Amino acid sequence: MANYWVKKPLSKLLADAEEGEKSLKKTLGAGALVALGIGAIIGAGLFVRTAAAAAQNAGPSVTIGFIIAAIGCALAGLCYAELSSSIPISGSAYTYTYATMGELIAWIIGWDLVLEYAVGAATVGIAWSEYLNNFLVQILHVSPVPYEFCHSPFQISPEGVHGIINIPALAIVTALSLLLIRGTQESALVNNIIVIVKVAIVLLIIALGWGYINPANHTPYIPEATTYVDHQGISYKFGGFMGILGAAGTVFFAFIGFDAVSTAAQETKNPKKAMPIGIMGSLLVCTLLYILFAHVLTGLAPIEFFRDPSKGGEASVVAAIQNGMPQSYAWLSKLVTVAILAGFSSVILVMLLGQSRVFYSMSKDGLLPKVFSEIHPKYQTPYKGNLVILVLVGLFAAFVPGDIVGHMTSIGTLFAFILVCIAVIILRKKNPELKREFKTPLVPYVPILGVIFCGAMIYGLGLENWLRLFAWLAIGLVIYFAYSIKNSKLQKGE
Ligand code: ALA
Repeated sequence: MANYWVKKPLSKLLADAEEGEKSLKKTLGAGALVALGIGAIIGAGLFVRTAAAAAQNAGPSVTIGFIIAAIGCALAGLCYAELSSSIPISGSAYTYTYATMGELIAWIIGWDLVLEYAVGAATVGIAWSEYLNNFLVQILHVSPVPYEFCHSPFQISPEGVHGIINIPALAIVTALSLLLIRGTQESALVNNIIVIVKVAIVLLIIALGWGYINPANHTPYIPEATTYVDHQGISYKFGGFMGILGAAGTVFFAFIGFDAVSTAAQETKNPKKAMPIGIMGSLLVCTLLYILFAHVLTGLAPIEFFRDPSKGGEASVVAAIQNGMPQSYAWLSKLVTVAILAGFSSVILVMLLGQSRVFYSMSKDGLLPKVFSEIHPKYQTPYKGNLVILVLVGLFAAFVPGDIVGHMTSIGTLFAFILVCIAVIILRKKNPELKREFKTPLVPYVPILGVIFCGAMIYGLGLENWLRLFAWLAIGLVIYFAYSIKNSKLQKGE
């Protein structure tokens, strides 16, 4: 009789961690962690989803959505920090739940993390494709990719052109997956340069754009609650409290990645201090930048502008600069385009890497087939796993609209955060003796508030997205009962 609640013994996890400690050098301090966090965080969420949330959900009050999302992340972040400091094995929510809530829940969360990493990578790939056209037209002065070849079959332009396949999105995720297989680790230097460029661009837009905010675009700041129906007939709850919650769920995407900091626990000097500073520091910096940026962006153009796919509906940041700032700032929109293309690439790489790590661990535990953990003899990477992931990410990038994959990423990650919050409470009860380098303050209140905030954002994302999450988890359960439970090493007593 299978035991769905079998837990991976903590002693085994810690032994694995010690093994890892021997091989990994402890070199990272708090500052390096903050840089790592910002490198993984700023991306499509800010440069694409912000305008979408303003257009579809909340208008200028998208800034309040950012605050709600940040509070949810901070609460969950404090819980992540405790787990990563007490189970310092290349951490993911999957590993933590296997030790605390048992195999079935661990499977659910591992499967759910596919939404965060693989579907997230597809979302950023689609966002990349929007800015590529800018690059082709404004910098290379060549023709853009025609609408049908840079949009999914579920999209129609206002002129009635149907999308067929998003080739640029498919191309970028393919190129980066191949890079990952080669094992070309993004060097710390490249990451630092990209972080500096990303932050500099955001600061420039805030500083230079501030003077061109048109107060009319910010009135009313919180629009009245109505229903907005777009040119494809899709309807959204716009304005009021529900609009803000919907915007929070949408822009929550912009914070995804800060949990990547916790995965570096084994390489951190004095994790007790550095980890919470790293997680909370990168969150704080990003939150401040995001709120100011969103305030400027929605001040540069009216909401109708961000609703029109031929104006600010795509590549919104560059479009808004061109709309709301004088022609003399053409250099800024060019710089932004290049920075965004580079910045998005690094985010995609981090997400693909995260996905391959999760599948690798699940495969090592027997929950997924061995191909996911077979290592390439020369490159030392789980290349077969990366290829399967490429097919999955490629399908989403090529054939699903950015709005849908973006929301699926948000809802999947929010669900994972909720489980992480619950895991902290369970672990305190069940393993009070465990050495915790960092302790979440005010347990159980902080984890419970984390569950409430993340739950509220899930609520704000609406019925269609709940159904997508359910459908995704249902597929996962079928795989678990058809394959994983029979092959699990713990079930077999190995
Ligand atoms: N936070 C990352 C982004 O916005 C995933 O692209």
